Amino acid sequence: MVKRVKDNVKWVGYMDWELNTFHGEDYSITNGSSQNAYLVSEQKNVLIDTVWFPHRFDFVNNLKTAIDLKKIDAVVVNHGETDHSGALVTLLEEIPNVPLYCTANAVKSLEGQYGKRGWNFKVVKTGDSIDIGNGKKLVFIEMPFIHWPDSMATYLTGDNILFSMDAFGQHYAVEELFNDKADKCTLLKEALKYYVNIVNPYSQMVARKLNEIKAMNLDIDMIAPSHGAIWRDNPIQIIDLYSKWSSGYSEDMISIVYDTMWDGTKKLAHRIADKIKSISPDTVLKIFSVSKQDKNDIMTDIFKSKAVLVGSPTVCNDIMASMTGFLAFLKQLKFKNKKAMVFGCYGWSGEGNKILRSKMEEAGFKVIDSEVKSFWNPTTELNESIEKAVREVLL
Ligand code: FEO
Repeated sequence: MVKRVKDNVKWVGYMDWELNTFHGEDYSITNGSSQNAYLVSEQKNVLIDTVWFPHRFDFVNNLKTAIDLKKIDAVVVNHGETDHSGALVTLLEEIPNVPLYCTANAVKSLEGQYGKRGWNFKVVKTGDSIDIGNGKKLVFIEMPFIHWPDSMATYLTGDNILFSMDAFGQHYAVEELFNDKADKCTLLKEALKYYVNIVNPYSQMVARKLNEIKAMNLDIDMIAPSHGAIWRDNPIQIIDLYSKWSSGYSEDMISIVYDTMWDGTKKLAHRIADKIKSISPDTVLKIFSVSKQDKNDIMTDIFKSKAVLVGSPTVCNDIMASMTGFLAFLKQLKFKNKKAMVFGCYGWSGEGNKILRSKMEEAGFKVIDSEVKSFWNPTTELNESIEKAVREVLL
């Protein structure tokens, strides 16, 4: 379906209600998603991005309802990742000589994925533009590492639309297209989940790029990302949120994250939680079992937390494999300015806490000296060490 965005700008993407994971199985999707592509029709007709490979035929057939493909003067490829470039091969079989505007890194990523096909690349840098007639231009803004080296945004003058690619997006299917038509709570939740699990590792680049975009003094009426709702009502709100999120964000919140074999470490998690609540009742507290709850949701709450307490029993001179995998993902996300504390049960050798400590330090957390270590199941003898550790967390 083709949908009107503004004046001569149409949405020609794919609303993906069945999508339930992304990046392989690394990102859970619970509210659908979309791959947004846009058709700008002034004196020149420009397609901005395509959709994921499985939807290539639906995409091209739908695009034909909006325009005779031979009338497309240019295609902008803001990003080479396959969820946006996957339909290019099929499209370019019909219009093989159409100019493709993209960054130098996008040429590498497109040829790396689809082979050298002799496509008509036009490499652009920040500030380059193409005149599309009727007094309007498309201006390119490189966005390296937000979130791939090849990423860029494209700004449409006159209509004042920033096609921001993945930045400011959400995995959230909104048939009505716009943020003012979406459920606000779900929209902000999905925007944050997306930021934490996809964009946060590049926070430093995000902060720099936001300053650069602000310095360009662009009039922005809409921010049209490549996933989810278009920010039409107060579009600057999502730029302001990205500014906050990219600056070592935290709230008065603590997350306790554990796995357990026979409930000893689970009991310890709840004993620690009770102590936190008794000392600091207003601190928001979340308790997660990594093997039972969604890891992307846990990461989102860890992002909001000022401290994360991680627990595992010692198993075969190590920690539980579920925790090892979880902590590897945690390290990738490069959280900043957060404390950590470790805890766990043991019956024999007891290396679990030491391994947890080392992994949390590697992940960039400030691990406090105090910890809680329970020989077999937790007893009242641990009261003192729990209180000491909790007070150090809350300092
Ligand atoms: Fe939505 Fe980086 O692709």
